[in-house]
Amino acid sequence: MKTDQQIAPPDSSPGADLEFDVEKIREDFPILKQKIYGKPLVYLDNAATSQKPQVVMDTIHHYYVTDNANIHRGVHCLSQRATEAYEQARVKVQRFIHAAESREIIFVRSATEAINLVAQTYGRKQVQAGDEVIVSAMEHHSNIVPWQMLCEEKGATLRVIPMNDEGELLLDEYEKLLNPRTRLVAVVHISNALGTINPIQEIIERAHQQDIPVLVDGAQAAPHFEVDVQALDCDFYAVTGHKLCGPTGVGILYGKADLLDSMPPFQGGGEMIRSVTFEKTTYNVLPHKFEAGTPNIVGGIGLGAAVDYVSEVGWKNIAAQERELLLYATQQLSALSGLRIIGTAKEKASILSFVIEGVHAHDVGTILDQEGIAVRTGHHCAQPVMDRFQIPATARASFAFYNTREEIDVLVKGIQRVIEVFK
Ligand code: ALA
Repeated sequence: MKTDQQIAPPDSSPGADLEFDVEKIREDFPILKQKIYGKPLVYLDNAATSQKPQVVMDTIHHYYVTDNANIHRGVHCLSQRATEAYEQARVKVQRFIHAAESREIIFVRSATEAINLVAQTYGRKQVQAGDEVIVSAMEHHSNIVPWQMLCEEKGATLRVIPMNDEGELLLDEYEKLLNPRTRLVAVVHISNALGTINPIQEIIERAHQQDIPVLVDGAQAAPHFEVDVQALDCDFYAVTGHKLCGPTGVGILYGKADLLDSMPPFQGGGEMIRSVTFEKTTYNVLPHKFEAGTPNIVGGIGLGAAVDYVSEVGWKNIAAQERELLLYATQQLSALSGLRIIGTAKEKASILSFVIEGVHAHDVGTILDQEGIAVRTGHHCAQPVMDRFQIPATARASFAFYNTREEIDVLVKGIQRVIEVFK
């Protein structure tokens, strides 16, 4: 896409790089250069998965060409190199989210697996009949279903923090839900369907006042701003790699070391044990206790390269660029008659869900696709959010720091075409 855009960051972004050149950044993402049906690709489905910079693909390629071996198991050179690269990646992720220790970073398959890990270990140990687990009305299914399964098994109750018509959680109602039977609060940092940035610090503080631990689903947050798990004081934080410029099939669970230590293992197998006899098995130390079997070695290493890349682009630049895109897109889309934005919270990330009167979201997506524009349509794995707004689905444009204002102009033209076709 041709653009000479150079984003001058708003005044409110101290430290943003005046030289930030989105066109130069786009050079790092070869996939963006292609045409779809003869039109330049406009990739606005970043909340589903981000594109990958060349350096991540090079790292993966280099690993398989030069270092591939199993980790923690071999005395030979390749195994040692692979182990070192994998463990270095763990340290990179630790620094990226400001965890106190690298053993607090558990490599998992996805944010979904991170949440399931906590439900199946911490949850199964701590939640008993009559207990309660709190989630919010804007959770992704991955932060509902594992808790529902747990509550069903244990005879516990799932409680839900409601939200207002803007898509903001009602904190007074949340306060009322907290009680001595609450065993855990599990809340999303940024809603994938609405874009709302939740006041997570306050949510954590209120739970901690009653000694209740908090799990944060950070799948959508980690790509958009600097997460500091120590400053947040969250007990668990789930991150997925593929929304963060990393490969699919890898994510991390952050957990406070003492909590992780006190939890039973998740899956049994090699690597997570200290010793095995037929009579008794003893378990390995953190983080290995939770990493049974051969992990996604190259995925972890690729994720390490991804967090390095994102850090190099810089949070100030990412924030300035994405805020600019969100503001511009919100203005432009709001001006289209028949279009309604779903999710109008005061604090939002660069996710824009919308419905068009009389047009099903899938038709919106299909027509936009013909224009080379990729958006996600459907319930976004957040059916309770759709129910709350009494809609079956939305179309969702989600922006990354490599998107441009010109791409939003293409999106607006595409939507105008949709409206025209269905007039
Ligand atoms: N959870 C991802 C999304 O929101 C897949 O699209």
